[in-house]
Amino acid sequence: MTQFAADRLLLFGATGDLSRRKLLPSLCALDADGLLPEGLRIIGTARSQHDTAAFRGLAREALEEHLPSERRGSMATFLNRLTYIPLDAKTLEGFDALASHIVELGKGEGDGGLAIFLSTAPSLFGPTIAGLQHAGLADDNVRMCLEKPLGSDLASSAEINDAVAAAFPEERIFRIDHYLGKETVQNLLALRFANILFEPIWNATYIEHVQITVAETVGLEGRVAFYDDAGALRDMVQNHMLQLLALVAMEPPTSFDAAPVRDEKVKVLRALRPAAANETVIGQYRAGAIGGQAVPGYDEELAGHDLEPSDTETFAAIKAHVDNWRWKGVPFYLRTGKRLPERVTEILVQFRCVPHSIFEGAHAAGLQPNKLLIGIQPEENITLSLMAKVPGLDEDGVALREVPLEIAIPDAFVGQHRRIAYERLLVDLIKGDQTLFVRRDEVEAQWHWIDEIRAEWGAKGMAPRPYTAGSWGPSAAIALAERDGVSWHE
Ligand code: BG6
Repeated sequence: MTQFAADRLLLFGATGDLSRRKLLPSLCALDADGLLPEGLRIIGTARSQHDTAAFRGLAREALEEHLPSERRGSMATFLNRLTYIPLDAKTLEGFDALASHIVELGKGEGDGGLAIFLSTAPSLFGPTIAGLQHAGLADDNVRMCLEKPLGSDLASSAEINDAVAAAFPEERIFRIDHYLGKETVQNLLALRFANILFEPIWNATYIEHVQITVAETVGLEGRVAFYDDAGALRDMVQNHMLQLLALVAMEPPTSFDAAPVRDEKVKVLRALRPAAANETVIGQYRAGAIGGQAVPGYDEELAGHDLEPSDTETFAAIKAHVDNWRWKGVPFYLRTGKRLPERVTEILVQFRCVPHSIFEGAHAAGLQPNKLLIGIQPEENITLSLMAKVPGLDEDGVALREVPLEIAIPDAFVGQHRRIAYERLLVDLIKGDQTLFVRRDEVEAQWHWIDEIRAEWGAKGMAPRPYTAGSWGPSAAIALAERDGVSWHE
């Protein structure tokens, strides 16, 4: 851990979408709860020619739109922390003025440091870092936080990582995967490693398969060009889904610190077997309806932005394998897509059947293997399905039925805020705790696996299969699981 606490936070892309929807609201909510260092100053920069007053105005609008009023606290106090310096990051000009402003703000504040949050197009990463170096903003008390997309394959990701590494050592680089900031994702670690119950059976002897679903109802949401270049595999699987998989599959780390947690995750990512073409299904949505509302097809959304139809996948299902002792022979079924019937992120752990059933008779067929369902969003709950005896005299033999043992996290922790994932990540960035940030070797192991899949798709000429918006993807995705006797959890 780099030990200094930042007393200045510099936001590149400060007028952009992420800043307005997530970063400024998260910072304001933290401030309202007294969780920002008292003297923390937040400097916004972007190309738009605003002054501080105009930026504060934009920030106020963003907060009113994206942060519930009860979480805003005194907005005026928060807005007073903000200043703004316009800058075209493509040229070195302007970085000196930015640096003097930052140095000025840091004067007399002790030995605090600077945290930089880069939420700009990756094409600006290189020039921005060059500008920061030129202006002396890359020394030992500066840390750098990067938002995805960090490349579009292993080579381009390595290029970005090299450019950043030329100015910052790995212990001062913070790569965001906002799923790691989600409370329920962290809860997965608590469930696995703060309870004795699960670890002894968390392996191939007792677990039959795992399903990870990240389903969205939204379509392109104004990010048409970006998404059409990326597709579901690179937009969702490469990062969020592989992080979830790594947390489910990792060995127990020795502590909840950056090095042990990330060491264990990367071992899992490196143990992923290349997925064969027949273990992947891709799809693209056609017009349909979600929640009774008609929605256009992907082609039509592209046409609305003057783009030609493309072969970009908006849905991907993959049967993944982690080739190590613990997970030998246990498939991990991953599924994600846009325009699916509901927004849900969940992990299902399907245990094996009991080795021998003592129950016979007409109802014995009711015996089901146990299941653990971890709801990440929108519902945060943990449900363990257990078998119970149906009350009765059992004239035809003992009747069994599955009953849920259910914990709804919001009910168990009444009165706690549901925090934005970025709140946790921003606090950790300011403190310098890398545990919930992604290390370079993890990102590269993720890309390595993804690149192999894309190469396989290319070699086999795989194109996305159509699915109707509002359905659970192409029927081949159902078949992918069903040919193993598995049904997707719905
Ligand atoms: C982003 C993807 O990383 O995650 C988006 O680029 C996706 O396409 C989003 O919609 C989903 O995040 P969340 O937190 O809403 O599940």
